[in-house]
Amino acid sequence: MSKQIWKPGNMVYPAPAVLVSCGDRDGNTNLFTVAWTGNVCTNPPMVYISVRPSRYSYGLIEDSGEFVINLTTEALTRAADYCGVRSGRDQDKWKVCGLTPAPAEKLQYVPVVSESPVNIECRVRSFQDLGSHRMYIADVLAVQADNAYLDENGRFALEKAGLIAYSHGDYFGFGKKLGSFGYSVRKKKK
Ligand SMILES: Cc1cc2nc3c(=O)[nH]c(=O)nc-3n(C[C@H](O)[C@H](O)[C@H](O)COP(=O)(O)O)c2cc1C
Repeated sequence: MSKQIWKPGNMVYPAPAVLVSCGDRDGNTNLFTVAWTGNVCTNPPMVYISVRPSRYSYGLIEDSGEFVINLTTEALTRAADYCGVRSGRDQDKWKVCGLTPAPAEKLQYVPVVSESPVNIECRVRSFQDLGSHRMYIADVLAVQADNAYLDENGRFALEKAGLIAYSHGDYFGFGKKLGSFGYSVRKKKK
């Protein structure tokens, strides 16, 4: 294999492209798109988002210490892109994107996005200034999961939600399923 050597950069893809809802203690709320996010601890459940201080959302998160990670679907792709290129300083992105705020279960100041199949309610535990971004490490206080994807056995069929990923500037739906956790070592049924 012949390879080019590039200068250091962010090339961990695919990444999520989630809609983060946020708000301050005065009742202002907003939505913005975040790709630099992920799980960081199983128990207690913790996540991170990395945010540039220039974002309008940054001030809201600083004020309330709360945010919601709303997973994005094919139907939400346009909104995810829009909320990532326009600022809540200038417009109400909820209204422009036709998205509906609904109450969080555990958060005081931040609504969830109704149209998203999974809303992850987070409270900031700590942060670290890394350079361009402030990384917030947060506890997951509650998860709202759309009943529409609960099958008759009580399994949450997330694969049916049409989640999207972000890779090197483009948004993608998922292709076909390639395996399940542990399938590489599972014994075949005779
Ligand atoms: C796909 C995508 C991923 C993004 N990821 C991040 C991110 O991880 N952190 C961040 O601070 N901004 C990220 N942005 C940029 C913000 O979403 C964008 O600047 C947004 O307009 C900020 O909105 P606000 O000013 O209303 O807070 C991303 C944008 C897009 C389109």
